[in-house]
Amino acid sequence: MSTSSSTAAERDFKKTLLKIVFIVFGVLLICFLIFFVNHHENNKYIIETLEFNGSVEDGNALFKTNCVGCHGITGRGLVGPDLHSITQRLNDKEIIKQVTGGLTPPMPSFEIDPVNMSNLLKYLHSLE
Ligand code: HEC
Repeated sequence: MSTSSSTAAERDFKKTLLKIVFIVFGVLLICFLIFFVNHHENNKYIIETLEFNGSVEDGNALFKTNCVGCHGITGRGLVGPDLHSITQRLNDKEIIKQVTGGLTPPMPSFEIDPVNMSNLLKYLHSLE
């Protein structure tokens, strides 16, 4: 008698445990999907950008109109830091994130298409 009632309690416990496992698993799955979707979109932009072989002149022109106010006419730095040899400290992905991410105010996030981003990268690579 006591054995069968304890088995029923055990079964209840197992059911509850199973529910918890399912919920936790579901939440993890959703988190993973959200992460994957975000990650995937970022990568698409980065992959597209890195497929182009940018032009230093076009990148220079973009830099003159968008960046000199803070990084100086020759990229030697004003409000923002000196960008010479930046490509030795940050890899291309990190630079793309810096320019498009808006993660370090007061530097704004730039909406820039992959071709122009690649030109900008090429220009930054030319600043030794
Ligand atoms: C409103 C001012 C401003 C403008 C405009 C601006 N930046 Fe910046 N930038 C900053 C500041 C400030 C930092 C430093 C952020 C920090 O690390 O806290 C920075 C950091 C950076 C860095 C990283 C430097 C390092 O040493 O880690 C890069 C690369 C960069 N900017 C590139 C650009 C490019 C390319 C443009 C133009 C498309 C641009 N910035 C426009 C202010 C600006």
